[in-house]
Parts: sequence; structure tokens; C-alpha cells
Amino acid sequence: MAGVTLEHITKRYGDLVTVKDLNLDVKDQEFLVLVGPSGCGKSTTLRMIAGLEDISSGNLFIGGRRVNDVAPKDRDIAMVFQSYALYPHMSVYDNMAFGLKLRHTPKEQIKKRVQEAAQMLEIGHLLDRKPKALSGGQRQRVALGRAIVREPKVFLMDEPLSNLDAKLRVQTRTQISKLHQRLQTTVIYVTHDQTEAMTMADRIVVLKDGLLQQEPSAPQELYDHPENMFVAGFIGSPPMNFFDATVTGSGENLILDAGSFQLAVPPMYNHDMAPYTGKEVVFGIRPEHISDARYTDAHINASNKAVVNVEVVEPMGSEVYIYLSSGAQSFQARVDSRTRVRPSDQIEVVFDVDHLHVFDKQTQVSVLKRANVERPNRS
Ligand SMILES: Nc1ncnc2c1ncn2[C@@H]1O[C@H](COP(=O)(O)OP(=O)(O)OP(=O)(O)O)[C@@H](O)[C@H]1O
Ligand SMILES: [Mg+2]
Repeated sequence: MAGVTLEHITKRYGDLVTVKDLNLDVKDQEFLVLVGPSGCGKSTTLRMIAGLEDISSGNLFIGGRRVNDVAPKDRDIAMVFQSYALYPHMSVYDNMAFGLKLRHTPKEQIKKRVQEAAQMLEIGHLLDRKPKALSGGQRQRVALGRAIVREPKVFLMDEPLSNLDAKLRVQTRTQISKLHQRLQTTVIYVTHDQTEAMTMADRIVVLKDGLLQQEPSAPQELYDHPENMFVAGFIGSPPMNFFDATVTGSGENLILDAGSFQLAVPPMYNHDMAPYTGKEVVFGIRPEHISDARYTDAHINASNKAVVNVEVVEPMGSEVYIYLSSGAQSFQARVDSRTRVRPSDQIEVVFDVDHLHVFDKQTQVSVLKRANVERPNRS
């Protein structure tokens, strides 16, 4: 087992810099998820750790050893890709055993490891089949098995679930989480799917344009305290709503004026927002912190209201997603399933201002200092 450290890692292709001065400390046995939009440098980062891509500058350590110049096969890592690329003419058993045979592992040991891995992945009954006789999910489990039998110090996974349909993706996701608990190995997992990141990670690394967006943090911490608009909008589904607003009022009574409605700024934000008085900001609020005024929880301050237009209604069973508009602003709310509204209705909604996020309009960085934000522990 081993930790992985990236020290000022940069990747250049000619003039194009695709990973920019990345510093990461992946702890031993940690499940770290790299997430970000297409092209942000996730695969490049993973491939540099694997040794499949040269590092332009910086140092890479696996288990305390500098490995910049160590061949991939000697790095004690195993990689699982999106396309599982099994050998079609070999049985599941032989596919899983192949890497070990190449390394001249004794036959008995190969058998033991393949059987253990197959049992863990619930593919023990499929060992004699050829890949073409397997479902997509089963094939992906064989690919995982092939990595497990190597008993690597670090698993690297690049979007291993993206070829699976929605249901299988959720199942296999759970299986990988269980596997991690059982094997207690370091995992670095790449995805563009924030739900996978939220559900699987010990800590999440958000990348955009090759740049780290926020100190790697636990999923809930990123969700509750995003440090810029990109992280705020990327983590969470449906995503956070953003509104242009002007800070008005004075002293203890600051107001966020969004044009068609106004919100009273909670006292805990006064200190950080005072310098923005008279200026424009962007405030953010998640869909679950906007409620139908008729069903707002008693402990939420209900005075921050707006009358809004209903555009689209999506019943989800346990709750209802509604798309709303107020003046020029469109936004989304997740409201109580008792809310029976129809498109073009007008309703009154309450904004739970204890869960506001406020960003500098130019820099898009949060103006609220983490130390000053103590949000009530309710959703
Ligand atoms: N061999 C190459 N030569 C030039 N540019 C490259 C090369 N490989 C990757 N890139 C560029 O580096 C950037 C990062 O690519 P990378 O594959 O790491 O993205 P990613 O975050 O994994 O995206 P995706 O979610 O689409 O897989 C992209 O802009 C890509 O075009
Ligand atoms: Mg990629």
C-alpha cells in the first residue's frame, strides 16, 4: 500500500499546457476522485501517474519513491480504463490471469488470486466464458478483476463506468466502493460525473482547464462550502442557482437586491459583505433551499419571499423539481411533493438565506470566509 504525491506537476504539449502546477497528496488507502469537465486534464494526470505519459516538470512519488523515470510496469500500479479491452479469444479466467502469467507468477498462486478476485466481484460462475458471452457490466468486472489480481499498491481508474447503462453504473459504483473497503488500497478515480465523485470519494479534486479549483476536500465540505462559482455550479445536481444582485442597505441591515425580489443578508455574513455595499455580486442558492411558501419548514425564516412564475414541473415522486422565473432570472427549486403547481401558475417561494453563497462578480471567488459561515445543519 502506498500514498501518491504530485509536486508541481505540469504537462505541456508544445505550447499547450494541459495540467498546470498540480500539487496533490493522496493518502495511503484513500479513495481520491478527480472530477471536472471534458478536456480539463483528468486522464492526462492519471496517465502521468501511471507512467503512460511523460511529466513535463515536477516530481511524482509513489510510496515515497520518486518515480518520474520508473517504467509503468515497475510502479506497482494497476489501471482500469473506460474501454475494458478484454482479449476476445481468451476465457474470463485467462483474461484475469494473463498479467500474472507474463510475470511468471506460480500457477497455484495465479489460481488462488483469480478465484478470490472472481468471488469478490461475483463472477466466479463466469470464469470459463469468453468476453462476448458477457454483459457490459460483467465485462467491466472482469477488467476490475484483472487489475485486482495484480495486488497493486495503487489503483488508477479512468471513467470505468461510463460504458455502462444507468442502472449498472449505480450497481458497479457500489461494488467498487465495497471493493475499496475490502482491499484497503489507494484508489485514484477519474470521472466527469459529479454524482460518482460525491458518492465514492473520500476527497474530491476539482479540475478546470488543468488547474486545481479548491483544496481537495470531503464531498460534503465541497458541497457546503465551494470557494468559487465553478465548484459551486459543478458539484450538486440539480445545480446551484445563481442570481445577479446589488448589495444595498447599511450596517447590520444589508440587502441583496435581485431586482424582482430582495433578500435580507443574515448577520453572520455582514462582515464579509460590507465591503461590497453598493456593488454588484452574484449570489447562489441550491434548489433544496428554495421552498413553496405553503410548505416551508417552521424553523426557516419565511420573510425572504418572492412571487415567481412556474415554467416547468417535474414530479420525482419524493419531491418535485420546478423551473421558475422572476424578472429576467430563471432558476430551479426542489420542493415538497405536496406542491401541486402547473406551468404558468404564480406561486410564492421562500429562500432559506442561511444557505446563501455570495461571489465576487469579477473574480467569481466566494466573498464569504469559511470561518464566518456556520450553516444550520438541516437541508
Ligand atoms: N497527445 C496530445 N497532444 C496534444 N494535446 C493533447 C494530447 N492529449 C491530450 N491533449 C489535450 O489535453 C487536454 C486534456 O486532455 P485529457 O484527456 O486529460 O482530458 P480529460 O479531462 O480526461 O477529458 P475527458 O473527460 O473528455 O476524458 C485536452 O485539451 C486535450 O485535447
Ligand atoms: Mg479523459
